[in-house]
Amino acid sequence: MGIIKMKVFYQIMVLSFCCISVFAQKDNGKDRIAMKKMIQENFEFAEKQYQYLEKATPFDSMPKTFQNNHNVSSDVYWWCSGFYPGSLLYIYEYTKKPLILDEAKKKLAILDTVKYYTKLHDIGFMMYCSFGNAYRLTKNEEYKKVILESSKSLATRYRPEAKVIQSWEASKDYAGPVIIDNMMNLEMLEWASQNSADKSFANIAESHADTTIKNHFRPDYSSYHLVDYDFNSGNVLKKGTVQGFSDPSAWSRGQGWALYGYTMMYRFTKNTAYLNQAQHIAKFILNNPNLPADKIPYWDFDAPNIPNALRDASAAAVYASALLELGQYTSGKEKQNYVDAAKTILVSLSSPKYRAQLGANGGYLLLHSVGSLPHKSEVDVPLTYADYYFLEALLRYKKWYL
Ligand code: GLY
Repeated sequence: MGIIKMKVFYQIMVLSFCCISVFAQKDNGKDRIAMKKMIQENFEFAEKQYQYLEKATPFDSMPKTFQNNHNVSSDVYWWCSGFYPGSLLYIYEYTKKPLILDEAKKKLAILDTVKYYTKLHDIGFMMYCSFGNAYRLTKNEEYKKVILESSKSLATRYRPEAKVIQSWEASKDYAGPVIIDNMMNLEMLEWASQNSADKSFANIAESHADTTIKNHFRPDYSSYHLVDYDFNSGNVLKKGTVQGFSDPSAWSRGQGWALYGYTMMYRFTKNTAYLNQAQHIAKFILNNPNLPADKIPYWDFDAPNIPNALRDASAAAVYASALLELGQYTSGKEKQNYVDAAKTILVSLSSPKYRAQLGANGGYLLLHSVGSLPHKSEVDVPLTYADYYFLEALLRYKKWYL
């Protein structure tokens, strides 16, 4: 090649590279703008839609679901009582509207008494999604005291011989039930340890997480819903399900609690065993042939009537939020894969197929969640935690990826 030809070739190469970069940036830019708009539209919708939910909820209760054209509410001891105030706080975080904070505060006031509750493991969900966010946003020291008191209550459920936190009370069916959902309650304990002198909270949380890695997972990294323990010997008595299709099946929301739980535990501890566990769980979910193209899972990965099985928007919302956090601890193609999957979920959930019309759906944001199909309870309805993790994921996307 002559010198002139070489120069021309070089110039063409540089030009092509610049064009590709500009187009790539442009695409990326367009995409960012679209996501930004989508997030903004969702929060504007949420602000208005939750006014319907507020009106439909008695002042001394929490919203639970909307079924047969009726709003159903619960007392503050239902495991979901923290999600509504938590969602209000997320909407407040985005919109900065004081009226929304006022409504959240009213609900926190009726929830306060739960800090002494020791009858179930869900106190982490109940008190951290609510007071945890309230403290983060307001720095009110009273809220911090509530979280620390709640953590003391949760810690009473730790069973040292088995090295786990007991989920439910013993019953005729189970001696020492521990469900995968319990991973979510560890966030409050880790936070309590970081924000007090009491390191036993973190010791309990990490001990529970380690035992759960050992006993709750199958070789493909899917999780059983429930492991039953003998709390005297620490032995595992049996493994199975309560809310899933069958004992060996992969209940979709349970896989989400596991994914979120180990990603969150890595945030606090930087223990790579937790990160590896989260990566394996993500692989199980994202490579599963039964995960539909819109990435909203069927209620169970092994549901009998796939592709006609019901979807679970709540599981999808938990996946999205967890995957966005996992993207923060990984890089390259792997990170991109998590963020892309979360984005697909958020776009799907924002579409009319899964998101309610203004004023409909009892004031909830999302349609099509499944509480417990085997119990015919909360089947294909809106649920407070679907909304909560959807809003959380939208905020995470805005904070980390825009
Ligand atoms: N037990 C919590 C759930 O239904 O996911």
